[in-house]
Amino acid sequence: MKIGIVGLGIVGLSTGVVLAEQGHKVVGIDIDENRVQGLNCKRSPIYDPGLQEMIEKNFNNLKFTTDYSSLSDVDVVFITVSTPTVNGKIYLGYVFDAAKKMKEYLSDSIVVIKSTVVPGTARKVKDIVGENVVVNPEFLKEGSAILDTKSPDRIVIGSENEKAGDIVEGLWRFTGSTILRTSLEEAEMIKYAANSFLAVKISFINEIANLCERIGCDVNVIANAIGMDKRISPYFLKAGIGWGGSCFPKDTLAITSFAREVGERLRIIEAAIEVNEERPKRVVNLLEGLLGSIKDKRVCVLGVAFKPDTDDTRESIALKIIDILKSRGAIVLAYDPKARTNKAEMVSKEECIRDSDGIIIATEWKEFYGIEDLLKGKYVVDGRRILDPSKMDRTRFRAIGLGE
Ligand code: UDX
Repeated sequence: MKIGIVGLGIVGLSTGVVLAEQGHKVVGIDIDENRVQGLNCKRSPIYDPGLQEMIEKNFNNLKFTTDYSSLSDVDVVFITVSTPTVNGKIYLGYVFDAAKKMKEYLSDSIVVIKSTVVPGTARKVKDIVGENVVVNPEFLKEGSAILDTKSPDRIVIGSENEKAGDIVEGLWRFTGSTILRTSLEEAEMIKYAANSFLAVKISFINEIANLCERIGCDVNVIANAIGMDKRISPYFLKAGIGWGGSCFPKDTLAITSFAREVGERLRIIEAAIEVNEERPKRVVNLLEGLLGSIKDKRVCVLGVAFKPDTDDTRESIALKIIDILKSRGAIVLAYDPKARTNKAEMVSKEECIRDSDGIIIATEWKEFYGIEDLLKGKYVVDGRRILDPSKMDRTRFRAIGLGE
């Protein structure tokens, strides 16, 4: 089949390269000329394991352009543009713009919305492009985008036009994953319910971690035990500095404000957001508890990406920690194997550790495991529970969810 992808972020690129690998001819469109030029030279604009290799391997089936007229003969076009939060509400302008721009080139093509959109959006896209609209939300995680696209836990296809839904189902059948057929609004809602539930789960364990710090318990012991209950499951129970990234913060805000607009409150999700907003301050407080005042002290932040195996710093809690450190007068150094920020002086890992008084581990990159020896003589806050507390100096070490 001939496939169009509009919006070449992590979702669009992963979808594109995986379908190209299945033998489809894929044309990717983005408004960012640099991104398109780079991709046409086989350069991935994003780091995610395997993505660069997939672009190279399937290049014969891939084409990148800024020109919507390339969609003139596609069978299926995926909308994978971003849906950012503006003033606490979802901004759908990019989705509608994409629909309007593609409209004149479509001939019976199926338009698949993969971007995360609030319920009712697909119906509005239908008003622009016609009946063949399908909602096929994406559940991939950054850091394992290609793997998740190839073998998702389930595939959700929302459609009113059964034939259009069947064609999209055919595209994903190779995954062997369970395919669920739903209405348009149900498909839109599933994505928000899934992401919000995961965010709630993390905020839940983070609050338990706060209590553990007070009473001298280890939250990991608690999480491990409750996770053995199949009804709870062990996943997304890792206490830490809070959830960041391009999805959870944006999606929880979008669905809570959407709910209020239609006259409902999602109080549990609102509380999870509130708990998350406190996290960076609590982390800095732990360091202050060790160092006394952090004014004019040098603090090293290890990891600025919102999670390991990505160079993405969107809504990264590490950056919020850096802001708070600076607002309290600290001099901040940072190191990350892949991600960059201009909020702090980026230095090598060795310099970051050597030249600082205090250290905060903000991202659980593999290379930070086992560095207890390197940290000797420093005041350390482990925001991700990667260090072995028995190897750390008790008077100089604090960790999330671990009593003194
Ligand atoms: C998330 C969803 O997992 C994915 O299904 C959806 O499609 C997009 O949003 P992603 O943002 O890539 O994916 O990251 P994820 O691995 O879910 O982590 C999100 C945040 O939660 C990170 O900041 C991570 O550090 C934090 N987290 C995750 C925890 O603090 N504890 C956990 O146990 C799990």
